[in-house]
Amino acid sequence: MRDYSDITIESDDKGVRVIRLNRPEAHNALRTHLLAELADALSAAQQNDAIGCIVITGSETLFAAGADIKEMAQLDAVALWKDQRPLHWKSIREFTKPVVAAVNGYCLGGGFELAMHADILIAGSNAQFGQPEINLGIIPGAGGTQRLVRTVGKSLAMKMVLSGEFINAQQALAAGIAAEITQPENTLRCAIQLAQKIACKSPIALRLAKELVLKSYETTLEQGLDAERKSFVFLAATDDRNEGISAFLEKREPRFTGQ
Ligand code: CAA
Repeated sequence: MRDYSDITIESDDKGVRVIRLNRPEAHNALRTHLLAELADALSAAQQNDAIGCIVITGSETLFAAGADIKEMAQLDAVALWKDQRPLHWKSIREFTKPVVAAVNGYCLGGGFELAMHADILIAGSNAQFGQPEINLGIIPGAGGTQRLVRTVGKSLAMKMVLSGEFINAQQALAAGIAAEITQPENTLRCAIQLAQKIACKSPIALRLAKELVLKSYETTLEQGLDAERKSFVFLAATDDRNEGISAFLEKREPRFTGQ
């Protein structure tokens, strides 16, 4: 395992790796170094067949308060243009294994954008979500204007992006940002249990399922259905599909190999 300073990594024996944002002194602000470590950790997990699902989390009281404003203050337009951050975000965006975000407390700006990169979000009842960039005279810079509207619709997305107002966990659940709410002390455990349930499925089927759901943002319904059909047929050529169906018929648990 690499020697990280801004994140910590922990893996279990059920295919789940927990990546924890760990800059409590700065409310887990996403400085460039943290994003580089996150991208590196995901790249390592991508190459490790023992990892089936990732959980990204902060602490029981805080997910992340956004981009590091102190670092950002040092960057002019040219420096921002040359910055490595978009490359790190691209690596995070292109990670193909399932990601669950376990979110407690403040989940703001780039922190909220990171949580929206996850495939499933479990929120603690103390979670607060917001895009407060407008208060700084800027706008979301890691997909907030695009992802939020696709999740919650125009009116709420506009309200959050234009006013900087936060929403709570209940509102996030109602708006489709969170899949589930739990007590803050249970958020991580709940996310890990879900991740373990996911990690034991066929990695090929998981990868295609994630790809197809994300593709629905980009394609017409016809194109999406066509891609789904082709992937469905492709899976018939895998051992995992035979194993899954055999296990069901033989009334036993499947043992997927990723073949
Ligand atoms: N960047 C850098 N440092 C931050 C930070 C951030 N985003 N958020 C908090 N901190 C630091 C504070 O400066 C403070 O450090 P010091 O003790 O050294 O002064 C420490 O964390 C604790 O913060 P507060 O004292 O402000 O804590 P609070 O509990 O009173 O308030 C808060 C918490 C509401 C989250 C408040 O800190 C806040 O509003 N933070 C900024 C949120 C924000 O604007 N996020 C958007 C950033 S821009 C962005 O993310 C762009 C993008 O899309 C890529």
